[in-house]
Amino acid sequence: MRPCACPPLLRRHRYLPAGRVLLLALPWALLSAAPLSACPARCECVPQVRSVLCQRRRLTALPEGIPTETRVLELSRNRLRCLTAGELSAFPLLEELDLSENALAGLEPGAFGGLPQLRALRLRGNQLRLLPAGLFAGLANLTLLDLSENRLVVLVEPRALFGLRQIRLLNLSANFLPTLEEAAFHSVNSLETLRLDRNPLVCDCRLLWVLQRRKTLDFDGQLPTCSSPPGIPGDALRALPDAVLFEFFTCQRPRIRERRLQRVTALEGQPVSFLCPLGIQLTASRARSAVWLKRIQSLRSRVQF
Ligand SMILES: *[C@@H]1O[C@H](CO)[C@@H](O)[C@H](O)[C@H]1NC(C)=O
Ligand SMILES: *[C@@H]1O[C@H](CO)[C@@H](O)[C@H](O)[C@H]1NC(C)=O
Repeated sequence: MRPCACPPLLRRHRYLPAGRVLLLALPWALLSAAPLSACPARCECVPQVRSVLCQRRRLTALPEGIPTETRVLELSRNRLRCLTAGELSAFPLLEELDLSENALAGLEPGAFGGLPQLRALRLRGNQLRLLPAGLFAGLANLTLLDLSENRLVVLVEPRALFGLRQIRLLNLSANFLPTLEEAAFHSVNSLETLRLDRNPLVCDCRLLWVLQRRKTLDFDGQLPTCSSPPGIPGDALRALPDAVLFEFFTCQRPRIRERRLQRVTALEGQPVSFLCPLGIQLTASRARSAVWLKRIQSLRSRVQF
């Protein structure tokens, strides 16, 4: 899969003065980005707080002329589709970056490289399905990451959230995640607020760590709910007492608890269904590994023709 669908040469071209000797004599900052007083033509700037505000400007790429010293860059509700590696590293003092409600489908590894001061990264309402490994690797100061309302299907890329040593608020609301494994994190100890609602969660042992922290984690008023296994109440986290919960959130292979004999009438060659009196029904993926305690031989002998 290509991590990023950006056309390769849609880069912005900077005006270069004719004399190269003169160019070399200029301070590097003047060449690499606009001076402090500048502001991109289509944005508003608040120089006192080093903010560049470019919401709703139909931007398809980062605008020209963002000052190097920018701390807050607001690019929400534009048409950005992709961020390439190092694209933002010209603004190493960034503390807040808002890319919500764009059309970001691709983030190259290194897209957030060179931003050691970044504290808040908002990516809500984009088209993200996967996060490349190491995407957040350098963001040691990040405390807020909003990935809600994307199309994330998996965060099991080992250590998908690695590098986020200080993450306090993680918003994954409204994605397509079946689970969120503790191994995805650098450490979950810094985590204070977690939004995991509106995902098709499979409530098994992989989510035990959430369960264990459910008294201390702040779910921002929206407890995660279970989509499966079917036997588990959707609001298990809210409704079930601790003792029962740990019985449900397991990853053991399903077993038939009640071994009552079943008589089934079927035509030869037709499939036969047995009722499976399990506390938890089998999900599709688990059914394949279901263990039948009766041998096929003995099962067959009990089918009535
Ligand atoms: C985090 O930010 C502080 C200043 O806010 C800075 O001194 C420190 O170097 C940053 N941490 C990292 C790992 O860059
Ligand atoms: C999390 O995301 C949802 C959906 O975008 C939003 O409504 C909610 O305010 C966010 N919560 C936090 C704490 O960021």
